[in-house]
Amino acid sequence: MTKEPLRSRVIEADFFQKVGYSTVWEDERIVEEGLASRPGETALSITSGGDFSLQFLVRDAAEVHSLDFNPRQNFLLEFKRAAVLRLGHGELWRLLGLAPESDRRRLYERVRPGLPDEALRYWDGQPAAVEAGVLRAGKQDRFFHRAGRVLTLLQGRAKVRRYFALTDPEEQRRYFAAAWNGPAWRLLCDALFSRTLLDFAFHKDHFRYAVEGHPGPRIRAQFDRILRDVPASTNFYLYWAFYGTYPGVENCPAWLRASNFDRLRARLGRLQVHTGELERFIFARPDASIDCFNFSNIFDWVTEEAFSRLMREVVRVARPGARLCYWTNIVNTKRELSKAGVSELHEDHDLARRVHAAARTPGYSSCTVARVDAKA
Ligand SMILES: C[S@@+](CC[C@H](N)C(=O)[O-])C[C@H]1O[C@@H](n2cnc3c(N)ncnc32)[C@H](O)[C@@H]1O
Repeated sequence: MTKEPLRSRVIEADFFQKVGYSTVWEDERIVEEGLASRPGETALSITSGGDFSLQFLVRDAAEVHSLDFNPRQNFLLEFKRAAVLRLGHGELWRLLGLAPESDRRRLYERVRPGLPDEALRYWDGQPAAVEAGVLRAGKQDRFFHRAGRVLTLLQGRAKVRRYFALTDPEEQRRYFAAAWNGPAWRLLCDALFSRTLLDFAFHKDHFRYAVEGHPGPRIRAQFDRILRDVPASTNFYLYWAFYGTYPGVENCPAWLRASNFDRLRARLGRLQVHTGELERFIFARPDASIDCFNFSNIFDWVTEEAFSRLMREVVRVARPGARLCYWTNIVNTKRELSKAGVSELHEDHDLARRVHAAARTPGYSSCTVARVDAKA
């Protein structure tokens, strides 16, 4: 069997020549409950918006390797790291665009000395993104925020405000049925989530292994589930799509919580950021060196053969008791662990179903969680 590393098939896609994600839009409970990361462990985490890499630190990981082939995603993570190091919590929120600020440049000036050279050059060249708050820089984030604004126009501000104030699950279900779930909502979903629009908003390479059929009804079913069944008052992801901020300093992603700020800042030295493809990076990792693998949904873009080889490498670099997770985008074909031909991987279907069913973000047909038996 060849030991040659692989190559990514989407690395050249347009979408990856910009910041695609300012925030990780997979529910962060995957780290707490799915991977159940523990103090002292080592994590390998796809960077994306950087949130999970920072969350592993909040959970006291000894080492976090954050990997992305798009350097801009890593520049964003470096921006977040430098901002936590050099600002107070309130200033961090203002710089990121989560709270009003008339002069973000001034805050950025204080963060600049904490940025590595390449990241510094990148952000110096993006004054408009810094001025607007970098949590609005991601293409996907802007798409969600735009959708939230269109919905606010259609449903009316009062209806949206009332929705997020709901605290009783039964009342939420009634409210969804009576006030939200009408023809306008259905029409909007079909228009917003057509393949054509998704191809335009993201890139057709995103959906190169797409399943057949119009994705609109599937995505709408997810939105219906979230709006109807997922508690509105703690769905800070959805709230951001509507308001461009989070409902509170404790009702937001773990790394941004005021109560986690000091411990995160103290642990930032444990973060190592790598630019490269998993298809190469993992082949160079030492045996038995990783406890938690967060693969985001990158396997949406690999062939079945590449997936099998990557899973064999996972077994090689896993420590005893290691866990992995990944998501499958609702438009794409799932890469099945059971077909990877790697007997050391044991899927926890119940746990994955629970995490997926409670997920506060739309867009994924499943998440996968597995225990990895390290190579004997
Ligand atoms: C898979 S995308 C999905 C984002 C995610 N669903 C979210 O909402 O945050 C996350 C990141 O993976 C990176 N990526 C994709 N394929 C990769 C690969 N083979 N190796 C390294 N990074 C990869 C992309 O650049 C992107 O920043």
